[in-house]
Amino acid sequence: MDKYETHEHDVIVIGAGGAGLRAAIEASAQGATVGLVCKSLLGKAHTVMAEGGIAAAMANVAPEDNWETHFKDTMYGGKMLNNWRMAEIHAKESPDRIRELERWGALFDRTKEGKINQRAFGGHTWKRLCHVGDRTGLELIRTLQDKGIHSGIDVYMECIITDLLKDGDKVVGAFGYWRDTGKFVLFKAKAIILATGGIGKIYQVTSNSWEYTGDGHALAYRAGAELIDMEFIQFHPTGMVWPPSVIGILVTEAVRGEGGILTNSKGERFMEKYDPERMELSTRDVVSRAIYTEVKEGRGTPHGGAYLDISHIGAEYIMKKLPSMYHQFMEFADIDITKGPMEVGPTTHYVMGGVRVNAETGESTVGGLFAAGEVSGGMHGANRLGGNSLSDLLVFGRRAGLGAAEYANQIDSNTLNINNQQIAEHEKEMLAPFSNSNGKNPYTVHQKLQVIMQNYFGVFRIEDKLKQGLKELEALINDSKVLSIEGSRIFNPGWNLSIDLNSLFIVSEAAARCALQREESRGAHSRVDYPESDNKKWNTVNSVISQDGDSMKLVFSPLPEMPDELKSLFSEDQ
Ligand code: FUM
Repeated sequence: MDKYETHEHDVIVIGAGGAGLRAAIEASAQGATVGLVCKSLLGKAHTVMAEGGIAAAMANVAPEDNWETHFKDTMYGGKMLNNWRMAEIHAKESPDRIRELERWGALFDRTKEGKINQRAFGGHTWKRLCHVGDRTGLELIRTLQDKGIHSGIDVYMECIITDLLKDGDKVVGAFGYWRDTGKFVLFKAKAIILATGGIGKIYQVTSNSWEYTGDGHALAYRAGAELIDMEFIQFHPTGMVWPPSVIGILVTEAVRGEGGILTNSKGERFMEKYDPERMELSTRDVVSRAIYTEVKEGRGTPHGGAYLDISHIGAEYIMKKLPSMYHQFMEFADIDITKGPMEVGPTTHYVMGGVRVNAETGESTVGGLFAAGEVSGGMHGANRLGGNSLSDLLVFGRRAGLGAAEYANQIDSNTLNINNQQIAEHEKEMLAPFSNSNGKNPYTVHQKLQVIMQNYFGVFRIEDKLKQGLKELEALINDSKVLSIEGSRIFNPGWNLSIDLNSLFIVSEAAARCALQREESRGAHSRVDYPESDNKKWNTVNSVISQDGDSMKLVFSPLPEMPDELKSLFSEDQ
């Protein structure tokens, strides 16, 4: 009998948000047996936090729109650091993925002519965001979940994967535990797709919920894959700033897309100073810096944010287009947004950096290991445009599902050799906090980590503070090698956190090292000491993090060269 509960599939998908579900559906459609592992319950994913829409050049509202403009907007928004091939595929394939989603049952808002309606969002030249009020991500997940469970996928809920198992250069399985019983579980697989989302819980103020501790980034890193561009972390300009229990919860960009106006405590429409052309519909990096600056210079609201007002468009329209925002403010803050403004400020929302993948297949630099959605890097460059994450996860979730199924097809399951020694060592590490005496408390360590990241690696960065932050981070990691917890393995959040800290530390260190080394400002990475983009030195390189023994290695590697036919699209704008 196996020592551990064991499951075997052709393809294991880790993470069950939009990217994971879409990948699982595709791999299953290709004939692969698929296991879908969710850290929490199926359907509870950060995908639902993309509330305002999904970007695709459907040209339903703006007939002028096309994939070329979407491609250029995405590249300009990403400050040309994007993997051009991913941005090209994304712009070309997004409309098909939306039509497919509709065939699977998604109910989008409609224009008067009965087409899928599209709204404005920051950095998009045309009204491009297909939407379902302000619950677009939720509708996307609902549809994919429905499709997924009818595709014969095996779903494993409340299961946390803590290590990828390798045989030589390729992955052959994953090891983890059940949150409810604390018992270990082994998955054998020919191919593995990471779709674990982001790293928001390294910060104090974030729109991310407890699951987003960088697990997939860390699993890939430890398995020998490369992480690119980890310094680029998106601070969404509008999160709630009050009351304290809900700080960071997202206020969708759709509020600005539908005409919302930002003002400071003096009643000034301050975006005039920062981006007079696009105003509130400037890109997220610009609007976040603008709000942050207004607050720092003493023109913030009583709770340290800016005012965002949509009341002028009328209660009926608000209730139709922004119903969740209405309820969110009414229930959490006792504010009626049909009558007056909200208070909002930047919140950590998304990481542009992630696992380096092949644009066509989603395969990482490790054999059999694929990644899609937020855990992968390259698509969004230095700053993601709102709405591009939902289309990203459909386009590249599908491609990763295809790529993994094709890869699995060539592997003989008899060659999946599991290294029991690797598992035994890992198991020992995981259980150590139960027997350590006088170790650190994981909650205290996590709080300290969040303070360091918030204080030193936030919206604005500067060398002294980055160095100080890295020093404090290294000391924290060093001091936290021995953790202690109480209780049993059954539903023990303290133990769960002690394990999550391994991932939280890896992604924090990666973000910190890259932020210190990139001596320029670009997109979401804003250096006070290097306020300009340095196009000669930095425009053409990705930061690349990899594991080197016990150390983290950082190098810079050139971006792939863009072909002339795509380059010519930009010369039209000169
Ligand atoms: O503001 C929003 O609705 C978020 C969208 C996104 O992150 O793509």
